[in-house]
Amino acid sequence: MEGSQAEAAERRGPQYNHRMVCFLALQLDRVKELERPPSASAEEWEAFELSVHKGWRLVAKHTSPFDIRTFYKIEDMHSTVEEICKYLKAQAREWRVDCGAALEGCVPQDFVQEDREYLHKLLAYILKGVESGIDDKLLMEWLPIKRRHEVEMRELQIIGEDVLVLKRQMGQGGYGFVYEAEWNLATVAVKRPLRDGDLPIEEFASLVREVMVQGRLRHPNIALVYATTPSGWLVMEAADSDLGTLCHGKERLSWHGTLNILRQAAKGLCYLHNLSPAIVHSDVKASNFLVFGKEPSSCRIKVADFGLAFEALEGRSKTARLGGGTLEWMAPEIYEQKPITISSDIFSFGVTMYEVLTGAYPYGSDKLNQYAQAAVVMNKKLSGKEPCTIGPDDCPNDMHALMMRCCSIDPEDRPTMLEVIKCLEELPNDWKPASQLSPKASQQQPIFEGKLSAFHLAEYHK
Ligand SMILES: Nc1ncnc2c1ncn2[C@@H]1O[C@H](COP(=O)(O)OP(=O)(O)O)[C@@H](O)[C@H]1O
Ligand SMILES: [Mg+2]
Repeated sequence: MEGSQAEAAERRGPQYNHRMVCFLALQLDRVKELERPPSASAEEWEAFELSVHKGWRLVAKHTSPFDIRTFYKIEDMHSTVEEICKYLKAQAREWRVDCGAALEGCVPQDFVQEDREYLHKLLAYILKGVESGIDDKLLMEWLPIKRRHEVEMRELQIIGEDVLVLKRQMGQGGYGFVYEAEWNLATVAVKRPLRDGDLPIEEFASLVREVMVQGRLRHPNIALVYATTPSGWLVMEAADSDLGTLCHGKERLSWHGTLNILRQAAKGLCYLHNLSPAIVHSDVKASNFLVFGKEPSSCRIKVADFGLAFEALEGRSKTARLGGGTLEWMAPEIYEQKPITISSDIFSFGVTMYEVLTGAYPYGSDKLNQYAQAAVVMNKKLSGKEPCTIGPDDCPNDMHALMMRCCSIDPEDRPTMLEVIKCLEELPNDWKPASQLSPKASQQQPIFEGKLSAFHLAEYHK
């Protein structure tokens, strides 16, 4: 079955990333007959098979029609293909199996270049209608893709940059700057790419994807996008702050404020996960939730930054490397090259709950130097360590248990967003840490309520 996929990929004629896909399929074909060599340990063999499987998944994804919402950028594809092929080659050589000599680890540069030219022409045609240098046969092939894309974009307003008056910078991220601006006498926020003028076409396509995903969402806890511009500015409702700034500020949030915030944040994510197809946000963390209003106990929270979000279409789950969010919040399966799913968002939401509740940076990452950060955070996470230390004064036990479940290493052990909401709704609005209760009241209300695991106790007695 898999062998015929390689031939099919070859026969199909030019497709995007075609040369890289064929290169990958060829290498996978070369290990097709391989059986577990005597020198391979069970773990090594399992990892090898997992890589082969991942490779075939990538090939299969490229056989479905091109879709702006799910396409793979050249550099992402290039690095993923090389990572797989180099690994297969190194492992086969170590095992001294025959196919080792034939395996190639590096994609030839001219393959990458050819794929890049093809993809850039395709994107320029779909997004900007550029037809020069494209032969009629290809235009016929691409026309249906362009039409489909136009239908999807119909609901979005495209406005000129000249009707926006930028006022002051409100934020900054990996993508660019966010400004407060005036549009038709109303205050809005404008997210503007770092680069001015025409964006490189793949970046422009990523932005269009972000607008396509976010622009269609309507929910009280999702930031509203009003319009976009030809150079890729995103016009949206303006918030007062973001949750990262709020929770890492000088003042600790009250329990009441924390609960108000987390319940709304959970509802926004729950809406995404229950759409059909579900949307995986992929970059859940406090700074990607916007805060409307100044008072934590009455403010409105909305999910924002859909730069990495994708629709979890059947058979199109994203794989690590092709965008997995920010290290501290990233689910552990992503390190293992497993697909990113809605469960990965739940892990990140678990980390976000610790972050909001304690005001600390997950895994103490703010105290680590840049070089040690990745390894330290990964080790702590994979050994099951909690992102932040929680004491009995921080939250009720049920809340602590919920956060721990969300941060389970095995995605199967994590709750769904609906369960998270239910649990958050059941928590008492008027909870107070035992140390703040009068001596009489604290006698009546035990700090620990039966459900405590040995792990909790060990943590509390530290
Ligand atoms: N609509 C908005 N209103 C107010 N501030 C915003 C808005 N959108 C983003 N910001 C600020 O800009 C920061 C970066 O925006 P974000 O969308 O997360 O972009 P990036 O992809 O660069 O992380 C946010 O953390 C927030 O502080
Ligand atoms: Mg962000």
